[in-house]
Amino acid sequence: MANASTSLKVLSVASEMFPLIKTGGLADVVGALPSALAPLDVEVRTLLPGYPAVMAALQDAIEVCHWPRWFGGPARLLAARHESLRLLVLDAPHLYARAGNPYLGPSGHDWPDNAERFAALALAGAHIGWGAVEAFIPDVIHVHDWQAALVPADLHFLGAGKRRPATVLTVHNLAFQGQFDADILDRLGLPDDAFTSDALEFFGDVGYLKSGILLADAITTVSPTYAHEIRTPANGMGMDAMLRWRGSAVSGIVNGIDTDIWNAATDALLEQTYDASSLTQRATNKRAIEVRFALPRDDSLLVCMITRLTTQKGIDLVIDAVDDLVESGARLVVLGSGDAPFEQALIAAATRWPDRVGVRIGYDEGLSHLMQGGCDAILIPSRFEPCGLTQLYGLRYGCVPIVSRVGGLADTVIDANDAALKAGVATGIQFADVTVDGVRDAVGRAVALFSIRETWQRLQTAGMQADVSWRSSAIEFAALYRRLVLATSGRG
Ligand code: ADP
Ligand code: GLC
Repeated sequence: MANASTSLKVLSVASEMFPLIKTGGLADVVGALPSALAPLDVEVRTLLPGYPAVMAALQDAIEVCHWPRWFGGPARLLAARHESLRLLVLDAPHLYARAGNPYLGPSGHDWPDNAERFAALALAGAHIGWGAVEAFIPDVIHVHDWQAALVPADLHFLGAGKRRPATVLTVHNLAFQGQFDADILDRLGLPDDAFTSDALEFFGDVGYLKSGILLADAITTVSPTYAHEIRTPANGMGMDAMLRWRGSAVSGIVNGIDTDIWNAATDALLEQTYDASSLTQRATNKRAIEVRFALPRDDSLLVCMITRLTTQKGIDLVIDAVDDLVESGARLVVLGSGDAPFEQALIAAATRWPDRVGVRIGYDEGLSHLMQGGCDAILIPSRFEPCGLTQLYGLRYGCVPIVSRVGGLADTVIDANDAALKAGVATGIQFADVTVDGVRDAVGRAVALFSIRETWQRLQTAGMQADVSWRSSAIEFAALYRRLVLATSGRG
């Protein structure tokens, strides 16, 4: 096993990874962390399900394991890479060879066998932990969200007499808990004694995330404020008592972003590249956005949102505030997809305000870069936000974040209050009152600040100077891994 000075092998287990497959920020984090850890002598390989998009992107794939019967069909484990990302892929066509979204079928509902699909992923992770891939025997298994959260239970209940790597569970969003009817238990390959309240059982169901929270050696979440929030009954989503009980095993490590992909000076997805010394060049991107959203050319504050359209993200508040926002002088462009009523209400707002509101329903990575590179501000009125990445992209691109004061938004944006403005450290606007009025007032503040050109530019440049990279958080992860390896070495 590795000690504090040697290199460390970490198996990351996740259900999505940028640029192979992405539905949200989880993919960005899983895609960016390996290269941030490499200089710290931490070698990461990522275990992913073999969805069609993943299989199509594999380079130099070789089979390293074969299981004739794996949750209802044959499966094999491939070692492969995609550019610099080192991968292990669970190729199990009966579970993953389905087009589209990794979690939802064509009807928009969860795949009925999601419990098996992700139990299969986790058990493959446990086998790699036990040494199934000779060339990569991990010291630590780092699992992300409920889809990978059964790994600690597998290691615990099925690992007698086998080596036992340390485990870290990162909770990216406590709202997604992976809870299934108890009758799936006999299909998970776990013994009946796993179904107790100190392991898998959660209010009579099987709880994937729950079991990880109780059985992982450490639990991290994606910002210090969210780590605090989830230990309170108000925000713990039924898991706060457990999280408090885990004590110092729970910590918050704020997400970073890939500063090579998100670099306005080199970003090929922008109409015009720029840096902090050439902010006026952003205007070319603003014009391109106006064209894309069929808005007339205008110099007023252009606010964007790039988001899943769900109540978590406060999109309903914006829908209710939109007339006030427009009347206060702001314009709004929204790129997103999600709950159908929100999509329809946004389209209706754009129809009502054809010159002031633009809406694009769908997912468009390229347009998201252009919006960060040309809009004046990005609005993120989340009711809760474990970390949030779009405010980090906004900071880096001079697209000033207007955020609710929750979770990672509270930890990464410095509000433009008088003191912060005078000290030159303000990077955005925060508001505590997550209501329609709160959104309206926050955008009103932005309109006022935007009218004083030098003040707005100071916000932009202070944001662009903020360190939003993975550098310091990767150091925290590497230190956590090393602490855990020391603490668990010698364990059965
Ligand atoms: P969450 O993971 O809760 O959705 P984050 O802010 O952490 O929120 O991450 C969202 C990620 O998905 C960001 O990279 C954001 O740019 C991207 N994103 C969200 N919606 C869209 C969309 N419609 N088109 C392109 N990118 C999107
Ligand atoms: C989740 C959270 C988001 C976080 C992302 C990556 O999707 O909702 O706040 O940034 O995971 O950790």
